[in-house]
Amino acid sequence: MRQGGGFFVTGSDTGVGKTLIAGGLAAWLRKLGRDVGVMKPLETGVKPSRGKLPGGDAGFLMKLAESRDPVSLTRPVALRAPLSPYHAAMAEGASVDIGAIMEAFNTLSQQHELMIVEGAGGLMVPITQNFFMADLARLMGLPVLIVVHPYLGSINQALSAAHAARAEGLEVLGIIFNACRKGKYPQPDLDLIRRKSGEEVFGLVGHLPRLNRRSIMKGIESGLEAENFLARLAEFSPEARAQRAKELEAKDKKYIWHPFTQMKEWMEGPVDVIESGHGVTLRGADGGQWLDGHSSYWCNIHGHGDPAMNRAVTRQLGKISHSTFLGLSNAPAAQLAEKLASIAPRGLERVFYSDDGSTAVEVAIKMSCQYWRQAAPEGKREKFLSIGGAYHGDTVGAVSVGGIDLYHAVFKNLLFDAVFVPPPYCYRCPLGKKQPECALACADLLDRAMEENQGQLAAMIIEPIVQCPAGIITAPAGYLKRAWEACQRHGVLLIADEVATGFGRTGRMFACEHEDVHPDIMTLSKSITGGLLPFAATLTSGKLFDAFLGEQKDRKTFFHGHTYTANQLGAAAALENLRLMEERRIVERVNEHGAALGRALEGFLSLPNVGDVRRRGLIAGVELVLDKASGEPYPWEAQMGARCAAEAKARGLIVRPLGNTMVLFPAPAAALAEILRMAEILRQSIIAVTQGK
Ligand SMILES: Cc1ncc(COP(=O)(O)O)c(C=O)c1O
Repeated sequence: MRQGGGFFVTGSDTGVGKTLIAGGLAAWLRKLGRDVGVMKPLETGVKPSRGKLPGGDAGFLMKLAESRDPVSLTRPVALRAPLSPYHAAMAEGASVDIGAIMEAFNTLSQQHELMIVEGAGGLMVPITQNFFMADLARLMGLPVLIVVHPYLGSINQALSAAHAARAEGLEVLGIIFNACRKGKYPQPDLDLIRRKSGEEVFGLVGHLPRLNRRSIMKGIESGLEAENFLARLAEFSPEARAQRAKELEAKDKKYIWHPFTQMKEWMEGPVDVIESGHGVTLRGADGGQWLDGHSSYWCNIHGHGDPAMNRAVTRQLGKISHSTFLGLSNAPAAQLAEKLASIAPRGLERVFYSDDGSTAVEVAIKMSCQYWRQAAPEGKREKFLSIGGAYHGDTVGAVSVGGIDLYHAVFKNLLFDAVFVPPPYCYRCPLGKKQPECALACADLLDRAMEENQGQLAAMIIEPIVQCPAGIITAPAGYLKRAWEACQRHGVLLIADEVATGFGRTGRMFACEHEDVHPDIMTLSKSITGGLLPFAATLTSGKLFDAFLGEQKDRKTFFHGHTYTANQLGAAAALENLRLMEERRIVERVNEHGAALGRALEGFLSLPNVGDVRRRGLIAGVELVLDKASGEPYPWEAQMGARCAAEAKARGLIVRPLGNTMVLFPAPAAALAEILRMAEILRQSIIAVTQGK
């Protein structure tokens, strides 16, 4: 759905005359020939009305706007008690249905050029226990107009409200003063407020002796800086948004080089620029909206714009964003390290921070190499064992242990020596076996590779339970455990790369827990900050750490680090992510919703071009095939995955394919209805593309 124009009227406090301003502006804009719809989504203190129009604020608004819209849409929630919506609903034993409010808003938005929505009280007024007025404004995608009184304390209130709006991720249309009470007040210093808040101020509507249409219009016309107001309003119109989106698209195409992207194709096609997000919805600069079906490449946990996550980062921002970790420590990084060590598989005691998945893997590789130099200097353990189809990142070390030819072959001459075993990809068993023989035979290969490279392997690196970038290849039960046991038998370190699988995605906090595996090293990134900031950690055992201890002269120091190592903002986000994961029972939720997703995906198997469906927790892959009976894949040139993803996008869902495998990787915080909606859009898109329907 495309976004319409309009604004959300809020107050710096209750009783500042929001309704008068909202209604007055509606009447004035109508006089200018604009098609204005009004809404008072939640009204409390409502008394029964016998007339055609409701009483209270909604009735007043409708009268001024000469609205003929149904009351049920204009005021979808009416509550009797004169309390906040949350408390008023509680007093009636009811709960507020945000979905119904949004449905009414979307209906009215389709019918009017401009919507004026009047909130209840200020932005921090609760609607439910964890949904506030600011959340509603953000969900509606409207900028806020802040109404303030001009009496004592008004500057503080105006600036605090503007500050709160921005902290909540809202766009501010501007501030307007309204002399709602009789009595004297000083002329507000509009320039001071403009400068300090960085927002527009549209003037002062003086005290109105009568509240009839004529008097209100007069007040608006004499107090409002009309030109300034209209110019600002125009910046949020659908036309202005579309123009801005076009300009951004042009800049992108002219200056940017995107990752994993054939830029020739990119520059020839349409480019959507994401400007905001709420929950699992992404919003484009032109107002377009999509469900985020891959949680922004497998990292978002709590949805976009989660207030608690935002607050944690903002709080840290107010203290300090970054100070070096060389020669200094910092509070969130120290607290986070303790937390990570307490939840990680047993034995992982030390935390080395870095910036992203690739650097976390790079650290793991260099650490294990140096470990053997120091722990067993007489040997030469410098090789790594990896799995075909593996992906561990894009830095040269990570590429050396990567097994996706399409990405990695071109850099072959730059890479160090790695040994690969075929992946346990039982749908296309590399050994030509059926289940369960495939699983056993693939696991046997691990032992064999270790025997053949006896005394030479520094470590084995594995993506536990699911090789995600390879196409959501789910390992058969027991494979991971067999790999760990083989490592122990052959004295090889085990690096568990949980960059994609960590933080609840597979239905356990870490995928290693499924088979009670305790790696020597574990790499974490992506979801660690709930998807807000780039940040990573490499966790190691005490045994490994101890091998680096010594005097300076021993040269055992791990000489590795990055400018932004242990960045405070990232660490603060990670701490809050972990706190919220516990509070919101995210892992349990992944299991419950994952099972429901699994049931929905079973239906995909009846489609003629779906060969296999694989899932663990909320990580799912649907493999498309040209011929179901033989499993013959679509040729690369057919770009079947990319075409299905494009179709899904046109239907409101963002997903990225991995070759012919469609991936669904929703944020764990997504509502079940949202997850099922994503699955349904994906199913319809597959049908449309593969069957031309
Ligand atoms: C298993 C795994 N390891 C490492 C990486 C690299 O992470 P990043 O893209 O943050 O460098 C990825 C990225 O998808 C991954 O899936």
